[in-house]
Amino acid sequence: MTNADAACVRLTIDGRSIAVEAGTTVAAALVVAGVRGTRTSVSGQPRAALCGMGVCQECRVTIDGRMYALACQTLCREGQVVCTPTTTGTR
Ligand code: FES
Repeated sequence: MTNADAACVRLTIDGRSIAVEAGTTVAAALVVAGVRGTRTSVSGQPRAALCGMGVCQECRVTIDGRMYALACQTLCREGQVVCTPTTTGTR
């Protein structure tokens, strides 16, 4: 956070706690956390958020235990737990 006055939320991504501005999408928080990919294709190719508008499905992660949630369509919430395939082993 660069603006100390901005409201922020703290969440956990792959076991790492980070703070982002309120209103940030999980997809953006993944970038802030340095997560380079959201999943792997069936052939093992790395995938990451592409369209940012809920169409490509490449940003699927597990959010609070809910698998295949779209990171680009989900806003960060206080205490949220986000897992990518590096921690869940899902595609
Ligand atoms: S980035 Fe395309 S659906 Fe989320």
